[in-house]
Amino acid sequence: MSTSAVPLKVLFVTSEIFPLVKTGGLADVSAALPAALRALGADVRVLLPAYPALLKGTAVKWVAAHGLFEFGEVRVLSANLPGDVPALLVDYPPLYQREGGPYQDRHGHDWHDNALRFGLLSRVAALLASGQSPLSWRPDVLHCNDWQAGLAPAHLHYLPGPKAVTVMTVHNLAYQGVFPLDTALKLGLPPASLGMDGVEYYGEMSFLKAGLHYADQITTVSPTYAEEIQTDHLGFGMQGLLRQRKARLAGILNGIDCHAWNPEADPHLAAPYGLKDLKAKGENKRALQERMGLEVDPKVPLLAVISRLTHQKGQDLILAAARELLAMPAQLVLLGSGDKHLEQAFLGLASAHPGQVAAHIGYNEGLAHLAEAGADIFLMPSRFEPCGLNQMYSMHYGTPPVVFATGGLADTVVDCTPATLAAGTATGFVFDAMSEEAFLAAARRAVTAFQDKKTWKQLQENGMKADFSWEHSGARYLDLYRRLLAEQER
Ligand code: ADP
Ligand code: GLC
Repeated sequence: MSTSAVPLKVLFVTSEIFPLVKTGGLADVSAALPAALRALGADVRVLLPAYPALLKGTAVKWVAAHGLFEFGEVRVLSANLPGDVPALLVDYPPLYQREGGPYQDRHGHDWHDNALRFGLLSRVAALLASGQSPLSWRPDVLHCNDWQAGLAPAHLHYLPGPKAVTVMTVHNLAYQGVFPLDTALKLGLPPASLGMDGVEYYGEMSFLKAGLHYADQITTVSPTYAEEIQTDHLGFGMQGLLRQRKARLAGILNGIDCHAWNPEADPHLAAPYGLKDLKAKGENKRALQERMGLEVDPKVPLLAVISRLTHQKGQDLILAAARELLAMPAQLVLLGSGDKHLEQAFLGLASAHPGQVAAHIGYNEGLAHLAEAGADIFLMPSRFEPCGLNQMYSMHYGTPPVVFATGGLADTVVDCTPATLAAGTATGFVFDAMSEEAFLAAARRAVTAFQDKKTWKQLQENGMKADFSWEHSGARYLDLYRRLLAEQER
């Protein structure tokens, strides 16, 4: 048990980490939050599967081996990943040594054995957080992220002896890790866990439900999303359980990594810029227009989208409103991948409007940075958004966003009105009905404001001055950990 003199030990379990394995914001958070917690004095280690991308070029050290049910021997490696957060890797080549993404193969199909891949990750996490751990370093807190780590609190619950307190963080309730019920037994959970008061979920089992049921504390990545997931509309079937555990559910807003995302020193930009020399932002606009084959024009508002392409993110609204958007006039740049219909639709829009619309299908970190810097307005009409990082990157880069009033978007973007402008708080454009008309009206307000130099500069400055750093949220997680440990002691 930690006192303030002894650093709090935290094992942070995740399935992706920036910059080596990333499909979305979880990777960014898994790199930045542990680093922030370390800066605040906690002894944090991250636990991940030993994917090829993590082993390549990484100095690893064998630290333990353990016989685990049908897996046989599973090794735990310690590794130095980029950044200064020590990592532990679950090494089991039959499950993790393969080319492709963390969840899917190169053709976009889910790995057939994802239950085993993340079942093993969860199982090892629980073991390391228990008195049976083969390591001498034993965490006070087991912090589990998303469904991939969701079985860890369940396993830990059934392990005897001293154990860490558990936190289950939901980054996206839509992904639940649902498998046939008997999978739980195959993964080493006892029959007692199979009921509704356990891992059972509508006749099957769910990794996420298990985490939500067994964890000492549930968190999600924004206060508004913490409320929304208790409703039938955004509870994705978990709302009953979340309402029941309301007293154990907190929303802590994500921060952003202000070193990786710093327009004054971003190696991906054509020209650095900051609050004092916003003019240089224009050079990035020019570079983006050139790189994407758009007509080079400093005056036309340049709208950008950087995102996974999926129903959640509401890009269908942009497509539906495209004719009106382009007639404003405006240019549009899209960087994204995902749903094949959406990819095709944006490619089609680009070929129908050469010089005015450009679509890059794929993942490109450098281009994402240049687009945040080069665009004038960022579009993020998500139907739901647990937190969202891109709207914060864009405000930080002086690129006011247009967002739907949901989850973390509602918690981070302040709608531009005469009152918020006067108060110096306006940072973007928020619409509160999920419709093409409402989106278009907000986009129109943004384009109109863009034409008014003084208002626009004010908006840009407000966003760039806002503090989106991890410091406050890191401190909130630490408070939460301490409170749980104090409860455990009682
Ligand atoms: P989510 O995790 O739901 O996808 P977030 O806004 O939290 O949404 O995080 C998305 C992250 O992924 C951001 O860092 C964003 O820049 C990045 N991203 C998404 N699509 C792409 C892409 N095609 N190329 C580069 N970065 C991308
Ligand atoms: C998820 C959510 C996103 C959030 C990210 C990091 O992918 O969709 O809103 O920002 O996780 O917490």
